[in-house]
Amino acid sequence: MVYTAEDGRAKLFFRVFIVGFVALAIVVGKNQAETIKCILVEQGIIDDKRKIKRYEDKVEIPVKAIPDIAAEFEVVEQKNYLQRKPFIPFEEIKKLLKDIPERDLKHLPRKWEKFGDVLVVKMPGISEKERVARAYAQVLDCKTVLEDVRGISGITRTPHFTFIYGDNAETVHIENGIKYRFDVSRIMFSSGNVDERIRMASVAQRHEVVVDMFAGIGYFTLPLAVHGGAKVFACEINPVAYTYLSHNCMLNQVTDRVVPLLGDCRKVAPQGVASRIVMGYFDSLSFLSHALGVLKNEGVIHLHQKCREEDFPERILKKAARTAREQGKKVELLFNKKIKSYAPRIIHGVLDIMIS
Ligand SMILES: C[S@@+](CC[C@H](N)C(=O)[O-])C[C@H]1O[C@@H](n2cnc3c(N)ncnc32)[C@H](O)[C@@H]1O
Repeated sequence: MVYTAEDGRAKLFFRVFIVGFVALAIVVGKNQAETIKCILVEQGIIDDKRKIKRYEDKVEIPVKAIPDIAAEFEVVEQKNYLQRKPFIPFEEIKKLLKDIPERDLKHLPRKWEKFGDVLVVKMPGISEKERVARAYAQVLDCKTVLEDVRGISGITRTPHFTFIYGDNAETVHIENGIKYRFDVSRIMFSSGNVDERIRMASVAQRHEVVVDMFAGIGYFTLPLAVHGGAKVFACEINPVAYTYLSHNCMLNQVTDRVVPLLGDCRKVAPQGVASRIVMGYFDSLSFLSHALGVLKNEGVIHLHQKCREEDFPERILKKAARTAREQGKKVELLFNKKIKSYAPRIIHGVLDIMIS
């Protein structure tokens, strides 16, 4: 049976079916599989107790429920599937560290971030950090472990991480079929923005001209160019991030579609060219008046903003509308989403606004 997420009746039918413990899977085209898999992992819908099956041009992904995704897929009952051995990393780590001091054992981090083969953890309360880090590296198959001591700060969003185990933090992190090479100790990568990176893969038309005003190592530029086929002018002020951005365009074979530009986007972004602008910065509002000059007549701006929870999206939209009005332009809200929370009642959100 083939149906899309809009087909409510089919969904209901299968939800009832699931209650009967049927091993369900969705079948998708091979070239869409990686993107869909990322979304399903994010939504917690993928059933990781069963193995994914790959055929010549299709992929069968085991699921716990019918996903709500804007893609065409077939729902099947999985027969003769292979079971995955449950692997609980934290339990394995604890086994390796059973003789460390009781106090350390109590403070072992239960959360971490893994980028390629580099791990980032917080380690408050741990005295034998090197030994603990080695155990995490062994179980999680990492060459380096960094301690997150003071988070990320400054306009270049620089991480304050120290080396606890290993001495090389350059890695290639693969997400949604895109390769991001970067040095985890020098450049940030926000795990919380994964949905946005996936969304950017499908917002643009092929050959559409996009300006990414805060490109970093290509967080949004690469999905736009690799999956969307867009032509992207990518501005980045930090020379280290710019070098990785240029390298990542080669790594992902999009040098014909991406123009990396080193410098302040207010100076280096081309004027009057874009029908879409990405502003992936925590205070994009203060750059909006410059962004308006980058648009070719009208277009969509993906405006990221850190703000108080109660100000999102109305107050942010009002401020954007005021800036646009000063240049004789109108704003219409197309989409908004809270991406993550920074601190109590402080969030990072994105607004898609149409400027005309
Ligand atoms: C790190 S990104 C934000 C995170 C990203 N959206 C993600 O998905 O992880 C912001 C980038 O904008 C760059 N940046 C800051 N101010 C800038 C400016 N005025 N012009 C160009 N780039 C700038 C920073 O150096 C940084 O690399």
